[in-house]
Amino acid sequence: MAIFNNILFGGDYNPEQWPKDIWLEDMRILNLADINSATINVFSWAKIQPSENIYDFSTLDEIIDMLIKNNYKIILGTSTAALPAWMSRKYPDVNRTDFEGRRHKFGNRHNACPNSHTFQKYSKRLAGKLAECYGKLENIVCWHISNEYGGECYCENCELEFQDWLKEKYKTIENLNKAWNTSFWSHTFYSWDEIVVPNALGDAIGKDKTAFAGISIDYYRFNSESILKNFLSEKKAIRKYDEKTPITTNLMGAYKQLDYFKFAKEMDIVSWDNYPSYDTPVSYTSMMHDLMRGLKDGQPFMLMEQTPSQQNWQPYNSLKLPGQMRNMSYQAIAHGADTVQFFQLRRSVGGCEKFHGAVIDHVGNENTRVFREVSALGKELKKLGSTLIDGRTPAKIGIIFDWPNYWGLEYASGPTIELKYVEQIHHYYKELFKRNIDVDMISLETSFEKYDCIFAPCLYMVNLEQVNKINQYVKQGGTFLTTMMSGLVDETDNVHLGGYPGPLKKTLGIWVEEFDALPPNQKVELRFCQNLNVASGQMLCDIIHSQSAEVIAVYDDNKFYSGSPVITRNRVGDGKAYYVGTMLDESGMEELFDVIFQELNINQYRLPVEIETKVRCKDNKKYRFILNHENKEVQVELPFQGKDLLSERNASQVTHLLPFDVMIIEEKGEENNEIS
Ligand code: GLA
Ligand code: ZN
Repeated sequence: MAIFNNILFGGDYNPEQWPKDIWLEDMRILNLADINSATINVFSWAKIQPSENIYDFSTLDEIIDMLIKNNYKIILGTSTAALPAWMSRKYPDVNRTDFEGRRHKFGNRHNACPNSHTFQKYSKRLAGKLAECYGKLENIVCWHISNEYGGECYCENCELEFQDWLKEKYKTIENLNKAWNTSFWSHTFYSWDEIVVPNALGDAIGKDKTAFAGISIDYYRFNSESILKNFLSEKKAIRKYDEKTPITTNLMGAYKQLDYFKFAKEMDIVSWDNYPSYDTPVSYTSMMHDLMRGLKDGQPFMLMEQTPSQQNWQPYNSLKLPGQMRNMSYQAIAHGADTVQFFQLRRSVGGCEKFHGAVIDHVGNENTRVFREVSALGKELKKLGSTLIDGRTPAKIGIIFDWPNYWGLEYASGPTIELKYVEQIHHYYKELFKRNIDVDMISLETSFEKYDCIFAPCLYMVNLEQVNKINQYVKQGGTFLTTMMSGLVDETDNVHLGGYPGPLKKTLGIWVEEFDALPPNQKVELRFCQNLNVASGQMLCDIIHSQSAEVIAVYDDNKFYSGSPVITRNRVGDGKAYYVGTMLDESGMEELFDVIFQELNINQYRLPVEIETKVRCKDNKKYRFILNHENKEVQVELPFQGKDLLSERNASQVTHLLPFDVMIIEEKGEENNEIS
């Protein structure tokens, strides 16, 4: 069932930072842009609880009254993402201890120790009080707990909790010693209290590496769970007074520290903040939207934040060009967003975000380019009404994204510092993006059934259950692809012995004996066996022995392993399992995907590189988004039939797309059995 009736159009709104005459002006101006919602009370803790036993919701009451009078839908924050100063001073345990081991005093935001009992008590109490006061109001359409959860704490209390968590997980210290292979570097533990948190004072090697990945990965798991518990405790407090309003917290794409698949299970709707920088590839943004949709098995998500114009916190905060904000808003919708929200509605007067773009700028009126663009979009979205709400993506291709793999792969010391998990995933996503194929980003727990083909780049860490699931999928006719750095370790980062890629060897029909790391900018030549086309690889070269697999490509270079396989395909049951032993260049990827798709029935569209097309399906209708992501006119011949909901253009008659152009074609003439 749809969570919202029509597209929420609004954003973060902080009237408590302004005198009241400005509030009235806000209402007048925002109304001109058809803004229909506001996210409030995100950072007001210090104002609504001025001291330990005093809660003062009077200003919040006034804000909510005003918004209700003006027919706003309200996304209500719980304000717990930034501590009040009195709390930090009176109860220092609420403050985080950082990576270097320094207990902070007060400042910034996202500053609470997730395991502080004081923080837990007061955040829960505040969420409960807010729900008691406002939970029954019809205009409150969503709860927004905390804000951009993240970071970690290394305080002594976290250390004690970590020890308890480990006890619960491993039961005996012997099990833990085995899991972490502690006989390495004299780490054998004899009691739980000998275990310290893996920061700069412990096993960390710089910020990114560690002497014991087992410990450090467990700390990621523990920290992610600790923060999720904060979310759950506020959620529970809200649910006491409000059983039904959806509850979310805003996520940050491929943010490393938190296992978002675990978070999403507890959220009623996923929401996220999209802040690409001037040089972020469009395909990367596209992948992040797909990941956010994938967290809850394809359910639509909220675009909780984006800037209407520029950020303030990136190295170069370029403006979005005329038309670009509209284009990016529709890109989010194309991938499954049911809301378009900005940070923020009015630009702040002080603090580090004073140069962050907003719907109402420092000039304070509606006569700005940015406002005109927001306003034009507001009118369009209003016209679209509920047409696209709850539309689903009919993807038949899945890409596995897994946080423990992200952590494990990047902690690994060797074989190359160039290996980055998200980049490797994007490398495969990009090729699918080029072919305009709908893709679901999925977890290892997602049901594989609906997918014709699943990509799992750098599936470094696997357990036997996961391997069985993959094997079954292939046997039953699925196509599976994995790459170098896969199947190497178990969940605590110990190597699966007996040859690489460990338990995946059988499905893949290969054995990898060694892997070579290429120095920066070095390439290795390779040749596809069937048509003798050449391509190149970089970064890593697996030296592969094919056992039952067919060899698709071989190294063809002056390396000692020249002539040995680099890409293989194994037939298992009714399906196929591919292995790619290097990071292919663009022509290699093209060639490989041609081979894979030869045997699959997947719709691909080769459109000019500037153009993206994605589909949402609803009520047996298919809405095809066509987005020109560049600031230039592009000649096209669109292989689609139907009318554009935005401009009434007929797809088949369109010969060119304007800079940042968007079409939403209600497609005709195709069956719609693609929706699962
Ligand atoms: C994040 C936060 C907001 C704001 C914006 C600025 O997404 O959630 O509070 O700081 O960044 O880009
Ligand atoms: Zn702590």
